[in-house]
Amino acid sequence: MEKILVAGGCGYIGSHTIVDLVQKGFEVISIDNFSRSDKKMLEGVRKITGKEIVNYEIDLCDLTATKKVFEENNNITGIIHFAAYKAVGESVEKPLLYFRNNLISLINILECAVQFDVPNFIFSSSCSVYGDVKSLPVNEETPLPEAASPYGRTKQIGEEIIFDTANACKTRFIMLRYFNPVGAHPSAEIGELPIGKPSNLFPSVFYTALGKTNELVVHGNDYETPDGSCIRDYIHVMDIAEAHSLSLLYLMKNKISEEERKNRNRNVDVMNLGTGKGYSVLEVINAFEKISGEKLNYKIGARRSGDVAAIFSDNKKAIDKLGWKNLKSLDEMILSAWRWTKKLNNKL
Ligand code: WQD
Repeated sequence: MEKILVAGGCGYIGSHTIVDLVQKGFEVISIDNFSRSDKKMLEGVRKITGKEIVNYEIDLCDLTATKKVFEENNNITGIIHFAAYKAVGESVEKPLLYFRNNLISLINILECAVQFDVPNFIFSSSCSVYGDVKSLPVNEETPLPEAASPYGRTKQIGEEIIFDTANACKTRFIMLRYFNPVGAHPSAEIGELPIGKPSNLFPSVFYTALGKTNELVVHGNDYETPDGSCIRDYIHVMDIAEAHSLSLLYLMKNKISEEERKNRNRNVDVMNLGTGKGYSVLEVINAFEKISGEKLNYKIGARRSGDVAAIFSDNKKAIDKLGWKNLKSLDEMILSAWRWTKKLNNKL
């Protein structure tokens, strides 16, 4: 049984990915220091899969501690690296916290991948590497402009570090650029754990519906979009999770020749993870009202700095290469996330 190390396994996408990996027959271990996650996610994973996942509560910025995990697990055949801070606004206020945490942890785990000859590595990247694009949909060849935030820059630099590392080692890489991950496992045993006041749209809608905030502010409705509000490519976290398992299976099945390996970037593949369809803020609000049967209290406010008017993906590469299909609908995203949020607040 192939053993996979999930770095950030107790996080939102990490925990959903562990469920998919286990259900596809992989053996999984996790590294998570719970700085932005909660160990109760592994309890949820156990309830869904019946499997107890071993988690190493170490800081990936500590190279000695990270190496110890690999010394104790010498048969790791794949790494999925999620562990990173991802709040765009916080990254603007604390850039050095983001550069230290997101880049040192990546460099450390890459050093281990190389030292311990781990053949396959999946990197959690982001559509935020595309910045403020003009031509839509974005595909993987879209040139990367100046990142719109330190968070986005840690993902751009992370990708560059991987391109150069791949050129000097035998490990093969797939970098997955997520669009807007939302939703929750249908069991409502795992989902996104909000930390503090939510800044993302979905949790903000649910908090307003629960009465935790008295009204949702729509950040601007004067953009160049059909209804004036921003457009994003929301993607169900279960579809994101499955793309990670399919990426490992792809690397394990599709070996490349020594000749191909020598050609720069032949060791690295980049893929967009989005539905390829964009929805505006107001469309998401309307869909929520239809699904929940509740009227949402919102008002139009000022634009939020760092927002781009619209971005959505060309996802053909992931569909063709990974056999990634049957992507879930916006309604399923909203319904599953709403169930999870209500359960979290004992309202289910
Ligand atoms: C979506 C839209 C807001 C809250 C996120 C992650 C980022 C990356 C991509 C992984 C915007 C509007 C929001 C509110 C609103 N994911 N909004 N009122 O900014 O696209 O980025 O996904 O790498 O890490 O942060 O998502 O949900 O914050 O915003 O009007 O109360 O909803 O202005 O137009 P975003 P978001």
